[in-house]
Amino acid sequence: MAYRFKSDLKWSDVTPKADFLNRRQIMAGIGAAGLIAASPARAKIATVPSKYSSTEEPNSFKDITKYNNFYEFGTGKGDPAKYADRLTVDPWSVKIDGMVDKPGTYDLADLTSGVQMEERIYRFRCVEAWAMVIPWVGFELSTLLNRVGVQSGAKYIAFETLERPSEMIGQNSRTIPWPYREGLRMDEAMHPLTILATGLYGDDLPKQNGAPIRLVVPWKYGFKSIKSIVRITATDKQPETSWNMINPREYGFYSNVNPTVDHPRWSQASERKIGGLVAKRQDTLMFNGYEEDVASMYKGMDLKEHY
Ligand code: MTE
Repeated sequence: MAYRFKSDLKWSDVTPKADFLNRRQIMAGIGAAGLIAASPARAKIATVPSKYSSTEEPNSFKDITKYNNFYEFGTGKGDPAKYADRLTVDPWSVKIDGMVDKPGTYDLADLTSGVQMEERIYRFRCVEAWAMVIPWVGFELSTLLNRVGVQSGAKYIAFETLERPSEMIGQNSRTIPWPYREGLRMDEAMHPLTILATGLYGDDLPKQNGAPIRLVVPWKYGFKSIKSIVRITATDKQPETSWNMINPREYGFYSNVNPTVDHPRWSQASERKIGGLVAKRQDTLMFNGYEEDVASMYKGMDLKEHY
């Protein structure tokens, strides 16, 4: 598998942003000026590296923060970067309810207090057949779920995004039945690759990328990775999910990246890698390259039926 760190790669336990940039600089052979211009100025978050990180070179900060899908701020790829700064992300609380031992509305700082943030460099694949590599800062969703105690009868985790049309100007149009909703089966939610991201490139998460906390599920199409989460619910029923509600024929509940199952309107066999001077096409990888880690969860399932 191409995405694991080589074991001889030695980092100190904590990797401040400056080291991170230096290392990237060396790996990429890019001049310091270019990198500093493309990335936020200072490290804020202490992270540890992860064995789950990709060895591929991440996209630039600019690629990741200027080409987005976040319909709460409009449907254009440039709209989130233009309008998301209106969003108030502090204070922020997340309601955790349903089949959990400790339901409640938690301040985000309490939810993440004492949690070791990791740097997770993940391949990211949008259902629209574009791809990036993104250096998230985050922690495993299972850490949070274990803190609140998921009850044994719960089979799914449902997520909801904030609904605040005064700041999320796209919510004044009915492009999506607000709030944006997503869901995972319990084994998917508990999988170590599934993270809640609170940062990007060693710094806080930019608002257009789903500040202050968003889901990242790297083997699934990007729309599963719900942004600006305010509610997490443990349930015994498969939750309703936004794109499936809008167009069930085109967007299934599972939405695993799969080059052999085409979208009804386009092929998923290849993808366009965002960034670089020339738009590059590359083959789509089964489960976006994470097959070895996740395929067992779908054993015996017809992935053409459960798309
Ligand atoms: N979450 C919310 N709340 N609203 C959205 O419109 N778009 C999804 C997903 N999460 C979306 C969302 C889609 S289609 C994609 S591809 C990714 O966010 C894009 O994430 P990025 O902009 O950080 O690359």
